[in-house]
Amino acid sequence: MDTARTLETGIASLPLPLPLPTTLANGAAPASPSPASPFHFATRMARVQSSAVRDLLKYSKMPGMISLAGGIPAPDLFDTEGLHEALAAALAPDAAGAFQYGLTEGEAALREQIAQLLQQRGIEAAADGILVTSGSQQGLDLAARVLLNPGDTVLVERPSYLAALQAFALAEADIVSVPSDEQGIDVDWIEAYVSRHPVKAVYVVPNFGNPGGRTLSLARRQQLVRLAARTGTYLIEDDPYGELRLSGSPVASIQALAAGTPAQGRTLYLSSFSKILSPGLRVGWMVLPPALFEQAALAKQAIDLHSCSLSQRLIGAYLAAGRLAPRLAVLRDAYRQRRDALVSALRRHLGTAIAFHEPEGGMFLWTRFAPEVDAARVLKAALDAGVIFVPGAAFFAAAPEHNTLRLSYSTIDEARAEVGAIRLAKALRHAGGGMLHAAAD
Ligand SMILES: Cc1ncc(COP(=O)(O)O)c(C=O)c1O
Repeated sequence: MDTARTLETGIASLPLPLPLPTTLANGAAPASPSPASPFHFATRMARVQSSAVRDLLKYSKMPGMISLAGGIPAPDLFDTEGLHEALAAALAPDAAGAFQYGLTEGEAALREQIAQLLQQRGIEAAADGILVTSGSQQGLDLAARVLLNPGDTVLVERPSYLAALQAFALAEADIVSVPSDEQGIDVDWIEAYVSRHPVKAVYVVPNFGNPGGRTLSLARRQQLVRLAARTGTYLIEDDPYGELRLSGSPVASIQALAAGTPAQGRTLYLSSFSKILSPGLRVGWMVLPPALFEQAALAKQAIDLHSCSLSQRLIGAYLAAGRLAPRLAVLRDAYRQRRDALVSALRRHLGTAIAFHEPEGGMFLWTRFAPEVDAARVLKAALDAGVIFVPGAAFFAAAPEHNTLRLSYSTIDEARAEVGAIRLAKALRHAGGGMLHAAAD
């Protein structure tokens, strides 16, 4: 087991052969702890690396480029009419309130509406246990701040959501990456690890994770709940994509499975309106046990006082108008078509040179070339061919798998999927010297 363990702190860097920007999202220069260049910022910044996905964005803007790199919600699927109407409805009764400071916990009416939404997901949560956050990304930051001391261990799936790794690195946690397969994170591995090391928290994206696209099986969710009850390890369940199920049947959330068990006080559930309504509004939420709720609200006060009042009221008006359910149906139909188009184009043009399992939802296809193919080299050829993707190495907290790549289908129609796959095949031939070797699953 020891040899399989991949204990490492920090985030794997992306070995891109490209001249990438050298600034962090906040505009600061990346941290360098080397004695040759004295580092004047807080040392914790040295543990955080710029997101490879953001770095790649500038290439996606090049004329004629087909981007499979983004992973953003499709702008053509925004319900702009519904959002306009909701904005007007949010302002009509009390415009001043929408522009005024609000409560740290969130707008009372919206918290009630979120509680109802959660009921449809099988989660019984009282409105006063729901903390409205500025996107679920803030939920991750808050979870890290209130739970993790420097040096605490947090377990993450291989591969993992990059900005969660950033949040945990900023909290100076030790990030240990756990193997996973088509059933999701390997909970037997976690059991063995936890029996020998203290673990503060396990982070999972149970539905169609970013980038892996996998669904954590019911049996493993139950096993995680039992583990949390037994050991006191916290479970951070990050579920921004659950409503975007495109095939198969829903699986009960960890939050629902933990209800009424000793694990209930150890589970945090995070979700968001970003993928189902609009990411620009920056509204998400957390469901927290009471003691943690207090702490997280306190931390949020210090960070941003409260989430945007106007955004919250707009979303409240949108939900009150009953527009979310029909919009979700539109989103699912469109994303299903886009997923299927990319899957069949890849099969047609790359055949066995690319391996993947079809995700049951979300926006991502996690794929791999034959082991000897370096996706970063293919990316270089792909830029010349006019297609862009994210090399998978960026998503590993340790021991990156260089033959992997994340492809997003959210903004790709059938015609672009076809051209994108043809260009990817061309790039692979250029960089990999042919497509003779089949990729293993
Ligand atoms: C797994 C996961 N968690 C959290 C987030 C953050 O989403 P937001 O802050 O927009 O709600 C994302 C965004 O891509 C994500 O993929």
